[in-house]
Amino acid sequence: MSSVLLIGVSGGSGSGKTTFARQLFDYLGPDSCSILYQDSYYFDQSRNFKGDGSINYDHPRAIDFSLMSLHLELLKEGKPIEVPQYCFKTHKRLKETTHFAPKPVIVIDGILILSQPRVRSLFDVSVYIDTPEEERFRRRLERDVQERGRTPEGVIKQFAATVKPMHDQFVESSKKFANFVYPGTENFVPKIIDFFNELETNYL
Ligand SMILES: Nc1ncnc2c1ncn2[C@@H]1O[C@H](COP(=O)(O)OP(=O)(O)O)[C@@H](O)[C@H]1O
Ligand SMILES: [Mg+2]
Repeated sequence: MSSVLLIGVSGGSGSGKTTFARQLFDYLGPDSCSILYQDSYYFDQSRNFKGDGSINYDHPRAIDFSLMSLHLELLKEGKPIEVPQYCFKTHKRLKETTHFAPKPVIVIDGILILSQPRVRSLFDVSVYIDTPEEERFRRRLERDVQERGRTPEGVIKQFAATVKPMHDQFVESSKKFANFVYPGTENFVPKIIDFFNELETNYL
């Protein structure tokens, strides 16, 4: 492969980064693009899990950023990687991995990716999806209750205990490293078109 472009897509939980990453993928097509998720790189937490909400999933030390950096370096060299699989039910890293082939464009989706100097330095270009806290909280509440079987009380507690303080400490402060900042409450389609034009002119 002649060249691999790494695009970081960051923003808070519920900001819309996965929506943006998927729309970019749909725009570029599966032959040109793949998405790599920060969530795959959670350390195995099964030995620490007590079910009392005491694990901080929003702190950088919960994520294997060394492995992620190594993987991004390999992808940049056009080499395939084996992505770990993390199970949110058992909090374990599974034995099986997912084979991930390099593509001309690789989008990396994660809340903390821009807070990490080594990871950040590997991106060719980066985007931050900027969404007000009230809206992120509203979306997260809806998702966790509807799709992840959580109680509203549990979601509210986790937001106050870890999601908000970690966001304020590590995520919001990494916005300044992004090349592009888009509001997460507007239609992404015109932003994707603008962004793609930018890529073609300045990065591809
Ligand atoms: N630009 C947008 N406008 C309106 N709703 C959006 C937008 N982006 C995302 N959403 C909605 O917000 C929720 C969270 O989006 P998601 O992309 O999963 O966020 P993240 O990956 O940052 O946690 C989803 O229900 C999604 O449909
Ligand atoms: Mg997401």
